[in-house]
Amino acid sequence: MFEQIINTIEFEPILINKALGSWIWDTEGKKYLDCESGMWCSNLGHNHPRVIQAAKNQLDKIIHRNKSFLTPITLEAADAILKFMPTSFDKITFLNSGSEAMEFAISFAKKATKQEKVLSLQDSYLGAFGEAKESSYTSLDKLELKIPYPVCYEESCDCLENTRLAIDRTLDGIIDEIACFALEPVMVSGGVFKPCNQFIKYICDEIQSNGGLVVVDEVTTGFGRTGKKFGYELLGIKPDVVVLGKALGNGYPVSAIITTSEHEIKCSSSELYYAQSHQLDPLGAAVAKEVVKVFEEDSIIERNQNTIIELEQFFKSLNYGFIEEVRSIGMMFALKFKDYKGFKAGELVVRLKDELLAEGVSVGYNVGKGLLRLLPPLTMNAEEVQYLKEKMRNVFSNI
Ligand SMILES: Cc1ncc(COP(=O)(O)O)c(C=O)c1O
Repeated sequence: MFEQIINTIEFEPILINKALGSWIWDTEGKKYLDCESGMWCSNLGHNHPRVIQAAKNQLDKIIHRNKSFLTPITLEAADAILKFMPTSFDKITFLNSGSEAMEFAISFAKKATKQEKVLSLQDSYLGAFGEAKESSYTSLDKLELKIPYPVCYEESCDCLENTRLAIDRTLDGIIDEIACFALEPVMVSGGVFKPCNQFIKYICDEIQSNGGLVVVDEVTTGFGRTGKKFGYELLGIKPDVVVLGKALGNGYPVSAIITTSEHEIKCSSSELYYAQSHQLDPLGAAVAKEVVKVFEEDSIIERNQNTIIELEQFFKSLNYGFIEEVRSIGMMFALKFKDYKGFKAGELVVRLKDELLAEGVSVGYNVGKGLLRLLPPLTMNAEEVQYLKEKMRNVFSNI
């Protein structure tokens, strides 16, 4: 349909040319409630006025420079983000995408530990290319290093008792070769699953006590998406490296990797060398600094808690024969469908996604996993929640 664009993915047949808050508009002027926050990036809503103003102010000063120069705004953003973190870190660098930052983090872990292997969980999505991709569910590589995990919300449970042997078997003989456990605290594109805390703590302890690092991928779970500032807070672990992306720029492409000087000094300066054209650019830093300020000053996460509860209750109340399961963690929701009345689950997913779009609601979907997925902006208001409920009930009732 759009002949000039390489068909990397299947595109919707509309063109979007405006966005504000929870809404996007197509070129015909029709508006849609964006329940995916763009690509799970605009946690503060699209074109947040303060973020846009900060970017405009920076545009007038300087947006880019040679990699040898730092700018004041980059240092200010660095300080603001390090202070915003729930556990103590003193080192950061800025990059552009989540995938790039995960690649950097994995490579950093290898250099800091002089170990090579990367452990991850089954269903994780850690990046679009390189080792981050190889360690994700989207690749068939390194299956022996992708650990199956139990999903559990109990404070005390027997998950670990049941799985310890399998973990030990996976780690047996390779534990001192593991550079990092690259952990997505909630498997978001993998299906919205949170692994059991005891299970995760055990793996992290094993890795960290054998010289490996825990690299937490907060690209999607960061900035309030799980109901906490960061997803790792749900798991009660202490990461060595945290990777930020998506919501850090609220739609602008800026990412970051955060660690400690204790780990940095394990790498030589030639090992630390990394250079690409836009790392640490002032425009991204200005945006990131303002995002953090808005989160703090407007108590975004605290104010989102009631919406989380209301949406969770709504999704769990949906009583339709084609819904097999509702998953909900913070401001992330997944509806798992089953085959119904001659339709395959995947067909239903596409049909409902299309009908919702026609009704003015944009949702995410995964045909293979039979899922509709919603990660709305954290700033979604009561009226928008009502709109979503009404449209969903209308569309679902017609199946
Ligand atoms: C958990 C996680 N890590 C990494 C990435 C990659 O980020 P990006 O798409 O910005 O490269 C994503 C993207 O969806 C993600 O969800």
